[in-house]
Amino acid sequence: MARTPLIAGNWKMNKTVAEAVSFAHDLLPRVEGLNKVEVAVCPPATALHAMGEVLAGSKVALGAQDMFWAEQGAFTGMISPLMLKEVGCKYVIIGHSERRGRFGKPDETLNSETARVFGDTDASVNLKVKAALAHDLVPIVCVGEMLDERDAGNTDAVVEKQIKAGLEGVSPEQVAGMVIAYEPVWAIGTGRACDAEEANRVIGVIRRVVGEAFGQETAQRLRIQYGGSMSEKNAHELLSQPEIDGGLVGGASLDVSRFTLIVQAASVIAKEVSS
Ligand code: PGA
Repeated sequence: MARTPLIAGNWKMNKTVAEAVSFAHDLLPRVEGLNKVEVAVCPPATALHAMGEVLAGSKVALGAQDMFWAEQGAFTGMISPLMLKEVGCKYVIIGHSERRGRFGKPDETLNSETARVFGDTDASVNLKVKAALAHDLVPIVCVGEMLDERDAGNTDAVVEKQIKAGLEGVSPEQVAGMVIAYEPVWAIGTGRACDAEEANRVIGVIRRVVGEAFGQETAQRLRIQYGGSMSEKNAHELLSQPEIDGGLVGGASLDVSRFTLIVQAASVIAKEVSS
């Protein structure tokens, strides 16, 4: 079954509103004519509204980097699915490894280098996934192993647990319409992407787990991206893999030329496959 690849830029905590708007104006003409690929940009929350106005009705969809599961209430600092819908979001990243919690040793000093401190768990990821779906947002659910988990040979078990817990109680039809991003934590922001064949293998494991839990048709429709140091240099090799349906791109998505090259690679490969 042909799945349209999705290239999504995760800007993390980068770009002011002015920078974001100027990026959007620059990106649109570069990707407007590209077929067989979907494109999304996930700016910081402050830029969502302004970017939503620029991107409305265009080829490029808007996504948020996180959200809370309640619609409103006394949740200082949080943003709700209703708010994301209002500003034009289609996608929302959920459970990014930088948001999953692992506080480490009690004496660990927290700083910007030990940033896995925002406390998401498989359970909160599950609540956020359900809230996103209830509000017609497409979740991009991130899973992936830490380096010590890979070294211990636990990669497949870790992603299986994250998938099962994160998608618990979601219907097969809803799973088919969402996006999963396989992001090995050791590959994020390190310049050391996962070997393409190994990424393809783990994504195959994810698809098998989804197939067992939600049925083969669902598993074949579900899009599973790769994320972790994807760049214009390795995109072609990664995106050529049969199981990889696009990329969640961090660092390389901050530069409009580099991001466009990745989108172009996805479009060319998708055409090759379908022709
Ligand atoms: P990176 O980030 O491309 O900078 O490694 C990817 C991500 O964290 O989604």
